[in-house]
Amino acid sequence: MNSLLSISQLSAFKIKNLCNLASCIEKETIKPYCGGKIIATLFFEPSTRTKLSFQTATIKIRGTVIDLDNNSSLKKGESEEDTVRTVSQYADLLVIRHPKRGGVDHLASYSSVPVINAGDGGNEHPTQALLDYYTIKKRKPTGKITIMFTGDLLQSRTLNSLVKLLDMAKDDYELIYSNGANEQLQLYKHTQIDENQISDIIHKVDVLYMTRFQIERYTAVNNPYRSNFVMSKELANKMKGDAIIMHPLPRLTELPPEIDSDPRAVYFEQVKNGLYVRMAILLGCLEK
Ligand code: NCD
Repeated sequence: MNSLLSISQLSAFKIKNLCNLASCIEKETIKPYCGGKIIATLFFEPSTRTKLSFQTATIKIRGTVIDLDNNSSLKKGESEEDTVRTVSQYADLLVIRHPKRGGVDHLASYSSVPVINAGDGGNEHPTQALLDYYTIKKRKPTGKITIMFTGDLLQSRTLNSLVKLLDMAKDDYELIYSNGANEQLQLYKHTQIDENQISDIIHKVDVLYMTRFQIERYTAVNNPYRSNFVMSKELANKMKGDAIIMHPLPRLTELPPEIDSDPRAVYFEQVKNGLYVRMAILLGCLEK
């Protein structure tokens, strides 16, 4: 049984295997079955998609979900560490989200069963990266791909994990960043552009990956550069006919609903793919 705490733990081979398994699940060529295992979701930070898709994925592989709700003994002052120790006596696997960088790694050391990182502060979100990659490969299986990242490049954990994954998968990618990339993202070969150049470059990109401003990760003191980029029909008209527009969601004003009817908008497809990918991840982590 294995934990998934960071994308760095996976090899190119494992990433391809997980995507193949997710694809078999999607095409219904296999009937995924986990042997009635119990999965606990412990979210110390808000979530809609990640939590509900892990819970749905568990039900679909015929496991059972237990969830730490807002009425746990944390309210009586019990520590997160003791909470994790306790729940790992009940469940076969824990899915944990935490507001602090490294918070999931820390809590995993108190668990007696494998842990999946469902997002730790502005650091990593490995399962989102896998579903993003799966979505990209489904739409663009071969050839060099140019990906432009916009929005909050300082605190978006989805970007940290996806860029790491793209590097590890050894596919042919060109990365373009708009303003504000963090130190982690700077480690990878990329082209840096200013946000007001997006409209001149957008015709070249195969994947536009947007993110929201991570408002909960900033205080008035550390409030840095804030993106003003807003997607529009006019910009979409400049994009390639077979480009895709991605967003991990939730969105704020950067991605207006008028884009949703564009066939290149795949953000709700990402949501759907997340289910297949998370079923594959759960099976992988539960494997003996
Ligand atoms: C992302 C997250 O939680 O990092 N959402 C998600 O899991 N789909 C993106 C975000 O919150 O902006």
